[in-house]
Amino acid sequence: MKAILDCDPGHDDAVAMVLAARHFDLLGVTTVGGNAPLWRVTENALKVLELIGRAEVPVAAGAAGPLMGELPRAGARVHGETGLDGAELPRPSRTVVPRHGVEFLVETVMANPGTVVIATGPLTNIALAMRVEPRFARSVARLSIMGGSTTWGNVTAAAEFNAWADPEAARIVFTSGARLTMCGLDLTRQAAVDADAIARFRRVGTRTAGVVADLLEYYRAATERVTGAAAVPLHDPCAVAALCAPELFEFAFARVDVETRGDLTRGMTVMDRRTLTADEPTRETNCRVATRVDRERLFELVAEALAACP
Ligand code: RIB
Ligand code: CA
Repeated sequence: MKAILDCDPGHDDAVAMVLAARHFDLLGVTTVGGNAPLWRVTENALKVLELIGRAEVPVAAGAAGPLMGELPRAGARVHGETGLDGAELPRPSRTVVPRHGVEFLVETVMANPGTVVIATGPLTNIALAMRVEPRFARSVARLSIMGGSTTWGNVTAAAEFNAWADPEAARIVFTSGARLTMCGLDLTRQAAVDADAIARFRRVGTRTAGVVADLLEYYRAATERVTGAAAVPLHDPCAVAALCAPELFEFAFARVDVETRGDLTRGMTVMDRRTLTADEPTRETNCRVATRVDRERLFELVAEALAACP
């Protein structure tokens, strides 16, 4: 299956890249400002593809910041100044393709029917692609996003970082009619890596496995300093696995909307859990929400992908 990964590497984005490269015909990677400024996440995407032996996959840089306002600087607390602190990755031997990430998304999806898109950063590029090409939303075979939450947030009490970083873009995506799969915090918190899980990845033995283990140890320790939790959710690989290994997940079809105005709730994804009644016998759904994941089998999938790398 053909895929494009839109991301903001980012430690968990890096693991999502390993998994996507293993399980999809990866047509390209597009980057968006998020965990770190655009130039940083773009350089990180080039470095990770080189690390995993996939330097032929094109990288196109997309939006530097949200549709409205400035890029928030919340990512550095757990991803570090570079956005991928914790391991020294060789400088990339190549640069980005000379096309904007949004242009790359539109052209590649429209020219390759059946392509899926996996988005693991703020949804700015995806929303712009939908605005630039009205057929984009329905041309993407499936759009799997890591973002949102059906309960509480991580960057605020109510909002998850990717949705919060660009709520207007998230609303465009959730109201687009695209075939949406949502992996929110309630799902990704079930896929938290602790020291034992990191040690297990390291034991895979490849150079990539060692570097990823170093990166995850940095990410885990930084998250522990911020939140007190000894295990850090492996957010972004869930959005990849939900497409390549759906049997590891449980899903619920629901209506999910995005708050763009609330002082306390801006960026919150609101899932309508109300049961249907005689007054409302049906409700339009817009999203397949991942509700459960088999952590053990997900980590087996990651370990297998790491073993397939140099
Ligand atoms: O809230 C988690 C999300 O924000 C992940 O995609 C992580 O990489 C950060 O971008
Ligand atoms: Ca991310």
